[in-house]
Amino acid sequence: MILITGGTGFIGSHTVVEFITIGLDVIIIDNLYNSSQVIIDRIYEITGTKPIFVKGDIRDKAFLISIFEQYPIEMVIHFAALKAVGESVLKPLEYYDNNVSGTLNLLNVMYDRGIKKFVFSSSATVYGNPHEIPITENCPIGTPINPYGQSKVIIEKILQDLSFADKEWSIAILRYFNPIGAHESGLIGELPNGIPNNLLPYITKVASGKLPKLSVFGNDYNTKDGTGVRDYIHVVDLANGHLKAYDYIKDKNGCYVWNLGTGKGYSVLEIIKAFETASKQKVPFQIKSKRAGDIDECWADCAKAQKELNWQAKRDIYTMMVDSWRWQCNQSK
Ligand code: NAD
Ligand code: UD1
Repeated sequence: MILITGGTGFIGSHTVVEFITIGLDVIIIDNLYNSSQVIIDRIYEITGTKPIFVKGDIRDKAFLISIFEQYPIEMVIHFAALKAVGESVLKPLEYYDNNVSGTLNLLNVMYDRGIKKFVFSSSATVYGNPHEIPITENCPIGTPINPYGQSKVIIEKILQDLSFADKEWSIAILRYFNPIGAHESGLIGELPNGIPNNLLPYITKVASGKLPKLSVFGNDYNTKDGTGVRDYIHVVDLANGHLKAYDYIKDKNGCYVWNLGTGKGYSVLEIIKAFETASKQKVPFQIKSKRAGDIDECWADCAKAQKELNWQAKRDIYTMMVDSWRWQCNQSK
């Protein structure tokens, strides 16, 4: 059985669907801070299987011990975290407590029970301002300028140290680029709290009339059209990357790092255009000043994941837009 922390969240729920679809047993724990239990019913609607769900917090040691005592868990896929960059600057203690202390708590409980297989949700944010593009896994980790990014760097370091000290651990560190899209059923997707920070959720809210206008943060970047360039990846492709990582580490020891992206970069203006084509909606926008901390451009070199995991993102930008829009159309907010 596989324990999925944060399994009712955006990426976690899509990963649960992919794991269940190939017949793996899954248990989800989540404190529902940024998600809803309705997702469990949606997963059932999509797969015909209702995963075990227990509400609880990864910082609660007694809760974790009771979970590991009750269920025959062999591996943990760890999504649970706080992820809003701006908020992390205002609330660093909450971010380090939730992300770093929460992960340490989980690793300690696993260690005590001799469960040493772990997949971790990291982020391209660890590269900071990248030294080379496309970014390979060997690209030095930068200095993230916010506590959220810093929490990912710290956890990566803890995992590397753990694997060095105890050769029985099998660890996959997955560095996601920019996950967007939603399940093609339209039943699960991203549910940002309040006004979205990220580009795609903002665009879909503008297109549905819930927000008046998109602000494009800067048009004088050193990029093809002056707007920021990123590697957007469909969340279902990302979820499949977890299946491949699970398969790879289940019979191997060591700590492995893989980029999960598409290897292609799209500018903000290209994304607006792709969205308008796919959704047949207009996205009014205005050019605003740059957002603090944003880099010009980044996209992944995914050769390592392709070679070692036999994984490659399959869904194109058009599909990402169609699926994001379908999901937004199903939301009341
Ligand atoms: P999400 O907020 O949708 O999902 C995270 C889930 O974890 C939520 O359901 C939340 O309720 C739960 N959670 C948070 N703290 C918890 C705690 N202490 N105990 C139990 N549950 C807790 O976020 P997501 O987009 O699915 O991200 C999943 C992971 O991927 C996170 O670690 C995030 O940092 C990482 N990541 C996300 C992105 C992205 O753009 N979405 C990019 C790179 C990395
Ligand atoms: C952001 C986070 C990063 C996190 C990632 C995935 C910051 C500085 N970085 O990355 O740590 O891992 O999300 O969750 O927040 N844009 C606009 N208008 C908007 C929103 C965004 O023009 O309203 C632009 C940005 O300037 C950027 C691009 O769109 O060029 C993508 O932005 P976003 O979706 O927020 O992702 P990142 O900044 O790449």
